[in-house]
Amino acid sequence: MADPSQELRQRTRESQRLHALAQQVAVDAVQAPAKLHSPFPIYTVRGQGSHVWDVDGNDYIDYVLGLGPLLLGHGHPVVEQRLRDQLSHFVLAASPNPLEVELAQKLVHIVPCADACRFTTSATEANMLAVRLARAYTGREVILRVRNDYVGWADAFTPGMFVPDHEPGGGQPWGLGGVPRSVQRLTRSFDFNDTEGFARLIQRVGNDKVAAVIMEPSFRGVLMPQPGFLESIRSLTTETGAVLIFDEVVSGFRFGLQGGQGYFGVTPDLATYGKTIGGGLPVGAVLGRRDIMDRLSATVPALERVYHSGTWPGMPLVCAAALAVLEVLEQPETYPRLNRVGDLFAAEMRKVIQRHEVPLSVLGIGPLREIAFTDEPVLSPRQKDLLKVRPEAIHELWMALALEGSLALGKGYMPTLRFFISLAHTDADILKTVDTLDRAILRVLGRG
Ligand SMILES: Cc1ncc(COP(=O)(O)O)c(C=O)c1O
Repeated sequence: MADPSQELRQRTRESQRLHALAQQVAVDAVQAPAKLHSPFPIYTVRGQGSHVWDVDGNDYIDYVLGLGPLLLGHGHPVVEQRLRDQLSHFVLAASPNPLEVELAQKLVHIVPCADACRFTTSATEANMLAVRLARAYTGREVILRVRNDYVGWADAFTPGMFVPDHEPGGGQPWGLGGVPRSVQRLTRSFDFNDTEGFARLIQRVGNDKVAAVIMEPSFRGVLMPQPGFLESIRSLTTETGAVLIFDEVVSGFRFGLQGGQGYFGVTPDLATYGKTIGGGLPVGAVLGRRDIMDRLSATVPALERVYHSGTWPGMPLVCAAALAVLEVLEQPETYPRLNRVGDLFAAEMRKVIQRHEVPLSVLGIGPLREIAFTDEPVLSPRQKDLLKVRPEAIHELWMALALEGSLALGKGYMPTLRFFISLAHTDADILKTVDTLDRAILRVLGRG
């Protein structure tokens, strides 16, 4: 067989040309590290349904979905129509607009913890605001977060991120450049699913010092909480008066309409959203308890008031897209279909893994799945032996998929390949991708 990386280079010449141009004008040639790809990223120009096309005209089944937001797939007709209609009115207004009221009403109605809603422009901003609200509400400063669980790039959220074990410099903190030490000291981290570690940490920091715990209800969306883990965090935060913030940016509206809090039956004090609710447009939102959200009010004495502002929150174009997304998500057939197609991927992949007896497992639920390089039940992201094969194996599998027309997300803290599945993905898409993996796995792991 021809060298796969050579073959991919030949098929993606225009991507290489753009990458070379981008290197001259952008650091590392990308606008966000999540888009870095070795030896160069594939540049895409068009998407429809479950497919994207690159600048060289190659057609791929898209499992990246814009890093997750496109839960309905590319160009869903209901979203496109709403966007077109809205474009013919206006995209932005300085005044409040009816769409923001309708969207906030819907979200508050659906999300279990919500009495009120404040929009932001990204999920990072939503998390910044949630933490600020928690600090104002409690009068405390320390926040606890899950080690290596990405909740945005702000100062408060980079402490607690470490270089993945399988990469050079594994285990060292990363991304702390420019983050004041005084801020770093206020963020402390614990391991997902380590209930005792969490209890010890909260005691060490001091019961009366913790303003908030901010976490995804499932680690990186795909590692599920062990029974009792979220419940313990809920009860300890209630006991100590800390605000529990669920980051539902990945789980929200993906694990069902009520997201992680509905799925796991644990209600936080505040929850943050982004990605999925915007139908591909930039959005964020904080939803939660009225007494905490009310700190934003102009009626709160100036010194205690939480300040949040922006030109874009509640922007009509974004609200129109979000309302269209919710309209589709609320249809009775939506989640059964998303879950059925996601389950098909998992079931077919598990058959492949069993047949070949390879050390892989399928993580995640519903329309979010990852193939992880371990054959043990994955309980903690700290497991050092997730990568039992060469690190290059992930890249080789990614490449085999790309060569046969499937784009997966092959990076992140864990050595995994991630598959975001949309409402537009068909059984045929899934079977084609699993078939590629079936053939590639033996080849790649056989060489490992
Ligand atoms: C769980 C989670 N929270 C927050 C963010 C930050 O989102 P944004 O890019 O909208 O700032 C992300 C982005 O990947 C995420 O996965």
